[in-house]
Amino acid sequence: MRATLTSFVVLASCLSRALGATYALTDNYVGSTFLSTWVHEAIADPTHGRVNYVDQATAVSKNLTFASGDTLILRADDTTVLSASGPGRDSVRIRSVKTYTTHVAIIDVRHMPQGCGTWPAFWETDGNDWPNGGEVDIAPNAMTLHTGANCNMPASRAETGTPTGLNCDVNTDGNTGCGVQAPTSVSYGPGLNGLGGGWYAMERTNDFIKVWFFPRNGATPSDLSSGAGSIDTDNWGTPTAFFPNTDCDIGSHFDENNIIINLTFCGDWAGAVYGNSGCPGSCVDYVNNNPLAFQNAYWDIAAVRVYE
Ligand SMILES: *[C@@H]1O[C@H](CO)[C@@H](O)[C@H](O)[C@H]1NC(C)=O
Ligand SMILES: *[C@@H]1O[C@H](CO)[C@@H](O)[C@H](O)[C@H]1NC(C)=O
Repeated sequence: MRATLTSFVVLASCLSRALGATYALTDNYVGSTFLSTWVHEAIADPTHGRVNYVDQATAVSKNLTFASGDTLILRADDTTVLSASGPGRDSVRIRSVKTYTTHVAIIDVRHMPQGCGTWPAFWETDGNDWPNGGEVDIAPNAMTLHTGANCNMPASRAETGTPTGLNCDVNTDGNTGCGVQAPTSVSYGPGLNGLGGGWYAMERTNDFIKVWFFPRNGATPSDLSSGAGSIDTDNWGTPTAFFPNTDCDIGSHFDENNIIINLTFCGDWAGAVYGNSGCPGSCVDYVNNNPLAFQNAYWDIAAVRVYE
């Protein structure tokens, strides 16, 4: 009887683990799909960037947004010298109309914006209830959570990246959040673009959030790279960043999130690191006066896929 009960319990827990790691494709965003199922947000950058986000009609007419076949290009203006007293550099921020709770989001990216003062991000948040609805960021070299109070990460966890902060609460440490630095410089910028990009995948359950990065030239799980109808994250190996629920109730700190892709300049993030980045002068002056420097400030996205 006892043996039977034990094997039942073992079987049941195997079953729930297997089911927990298997997801089915629910949204396959490719090319012009982004124009009908995501919105361009012509809003002021809450992080004070030297940017002027334009609406979809403007972005398409200026070819800042270009969608065709299996390609979505999102870029900044690279022709205009800006007046110091006028608005920032034209750029694009798009947000999925759909929201997601527990899911896996994959971005297949061929090129990410690079250059002095650029700050691209692929991220998720609840625009109506920040920070209580949570925020997961994938930005140059770091994967970061920003949350309400009482969400902390252990210093030692099963991940290949390196923690840069352990308190995810936006009200501590100047909203730096709990970040994890990728172990490789090919995860963003010229390194990433030089090898044709790669994939980021983010898995969110009520127990943890995991982020994997796979470069285009490496070994990548085939279900992840092929856009398969179903995926099994149990086969993807140690994540680049692992945010467990040991001292953070993930289920209550994260609610329905939209996916957002943006490209800003200077501001709270890129502005803060500009001085140490080997870039000339001040960030805002540079962005105003050097349009040609932004020819590589573009996203080339093959797909965003969401599995639930
Ligand atoms: C762009 O993305 C970052 C995530 O790194 C986010 O914190 C910031 O608010 C965004 N800026 C905007 C609104 O474009
Ligand atoms: C718009 O951008 C795409 C992608 O970079 C390019 O192939 C196309 O030629 C551009 N169209 C115009 C009218 O410049």
